[in-house]
Amino acid sequence: MDATIRTERLLLRSMTPDDADFVFDLFSRPEVARWSGSGEPMTERGQAVARIEAQPARAGDHPACGVFGIAVDDALVGIAMLVPLPSSGGGAREDVEIGWHLHPDAWGHGYATEAGHAVVDRGFSAGFEELYAVTDPVNERSQAVCRRLGMTDLGLRDDWYDTTTRAFVLAAASRPGRDQ
Ligand SMILES: CC(C)(COP(=O)(O)OP(=O)(O)OC[C@H]1O[C@@H](n2cnc3c(N)ncnc32)[C@H](O)[C@@H]1OP(=O)(O)O)[C@@H](O)C(=O)NCCC(=O)NCCS
Repeated sequence: MDATIRTERLLLRSMTPDDADFVFDLFSRPEVARWSGSGEPMTERGQAVARIEAQPARAGDHPACGVFGIAVDDALVGIAMLVPLPSSGGGAREDVEIGWHLHPDAWGHGYATEAGHAVVDRGFSAGFEELYAVTDPVNERSQAVCRRLGMTDLGLRDDWYDTTTRAFVLAAASRPGRDQ
């Protein structure tokens, strides 16, 4: 599958270690790092290189899956994901997750929702029947993206990441129109 996706305003593309300055800038910001992994901001550029190098493993074997840089006019503004969703307790990874992180300078333009639609289209085109998003229970901005994508709120769930998340699902069979 093509590794790039074009939308009205965005280019979603695979990332390389050359993108480490952006990734370091993104995840060294507490307001972004808070919602990812350990929650601790990055303190060294090498952590960004390592995160980029881990992206293929994170995306797994399915050709549609990936971790994509989101670019506006060739400049990265964030990251979107279509990746296997880790089950709690180390169970089989059968669910598929969509996700997003934007640089704070790029919040408030609808880029996460536009990128979300793009990875949803890609996932459903690849034949996935359901796509999940899992959010920290108090991450209201991310939950708002889920709602703008027409996802159904599943409430608090313990099924993934060995933690409690507020989860959302979108079924291919019931996908609503694309009003943003
Ligand atoms: C979660 C996150 C991606 C949401 O970003 P966002 O910019 O709020 O979301 P969107 O890109 O969908 O933009 C929607 C906002 O843009 C506005 N907007 C402006 N122009 C727009 C356009 N052309 N189309 C759509 N929305 C537009 C909307 O009105 C809305 O504004 P509001 O928040 O004041 O209601 C961002 O806050 C973030 O990266 N947070 C840190 C990391 C994180 O939490 N990741 C998720 C982990 S689960």
